[in-house]
Amino acid sequence: MAILVTGGAGFIGSHTCVELLNAGYDVVVYDNLCNSSEKSLDRVRKITGKDLTFYKGDILDRARLTEVFSKEKIDSVIHFAGLKAVGESVAKPWEYYENNIAGTLTLVDVMRQNGCKNIIFSSSATVYGDPAEIPITENCPKGTCTNPYGWTKSMLEQILTDIQKADNEWNVILLRYFNPIGAHKSGTMGENPNGIPNNLMPYITQVAVGKREELGVFGNDYDTPDGTGVRDYIHVVDLADGHVKAIKKLDENIGLGIYNLGTGHGYSVLEIVKNFEEANNLKIPYSIKPRRPGDIATCYCDPSKAERELGWKAQYGIREMCEDAWRWQKNNPNGYED
Ligand code: NAD
Ligand code: UFG
Repeated sequence: MAILVTGGAGFIGSHTCVELLNAGYDVVVYDNLCNSSEKSLDRVRKITGKDLTFYKGDILDRARLTEVFSKEKIDSVIHFAGLKAVGESVAKPWEYYENNIAGTLTLVDVMRQNGCKNIIFSSSATVYGDPAEIPITENCPKGTCTNPYGWTKSMLEQILTDIQKADNEWNVILLRYFNPIGAHKSGTMGENPNGIPNNLMPYITQVAVGKREELGVFGNDYDTPDGTGVRDYIHVVDLADGHVKAIKKLDENIGLGIYNLGTGHGYSVLEIVKNFEEANNLKIPYSIKPRRPGDIATCYCDPSKAERELGWKAQYGIREMCEDAWRWQKNNPNGYED
């Protein structure tokens, strides 16, 4: 039996494929490559010495998905496929709701028609909105999202929860990621954003490699120790391992499970800059800019439920996240395009 990984050519998906193959699972990747390169899958094969099956296809394409389910014996789905750029989602809400929500509804329908009722869904800390408590536990109420991307995650959590409630043959695990950064130790796989990076770490690595002049720090007047935003950064390989643990949990027929995946430590923007500089012996020029609309001051989790119930705990610290992100960027200044 194989695991279908939608969005498996992307940043988190490709790292998860490595961990799944290393753990002995058969992997089938389904991706339309709208935000990724098939080359990431060659790197997965090279790192693991194992093969996976790739289908190029869109989660909105019912016929193509049905073809995959007819050709492969799919036991469970890890569903990464989705559009994820917060700013773009504000400008193109229809495209985000169509891709993420209609796409997931199509996927889930094809799954149930083929008797596959196990899904792990990529959710996000964004569903907590401006969190009611810090550190954030899974009991913290969901909040008001500040953009359509966030709403797609929040709504899809609700949709999958309702589907599981109506049919208890379903096993649904919602994984709420905090801030994934870093890259595979080999330096051959990592984050590959198109255009100007939205997120902090890829922006820093592009400054370090000389593609951008300086980092803009979005606000230094937040209610945090140094005034800059605090986040729970997690190494992407730890996050990938969390999916392997979640796949194992599906075997217990858990019904619905919700887990925060983070380290439980918060770092400010300036602390990330300092750690990156120290880990890599580099200087990152920066200047303070206005706050970015929709940002919150502080967001970090209590990851103890995942440790208790999945046996998962992040292993890598901030230094490794900074070293590994830089190794990838330095070796691949243009991502997979080289
Ligand atoms: P990514 O863009 O690198 O990967 C997403 C993949 O999905 C890409 O390969 C893309 O080509 C594919 N895709 C998008 N729409 C598709 C469609 N309609 N059909 C088929 N394939 C499609 O992003 P990522 O950082 O690896 O994120 C993976 C998932 O995790 C996403 O759902 C994202 O929203 C979620 N997530 C990411 C973060 C983060 O900070 N990176 C945080 C929380 C949640
Ligand atoms: N930041 C800067 N300059 C930049 C980019 C970011 O100062 O150029 C700051 C932000 O203001 C924030 C922190 O760095 O304080 C982290 O910002 P990111 O954009 O890297 O991450 P976010 O926490 O804003 O959001 C990320 C993902 C979302 C996801 C969320 C929670 O982009 O998709 O984590 O999982 F929903």
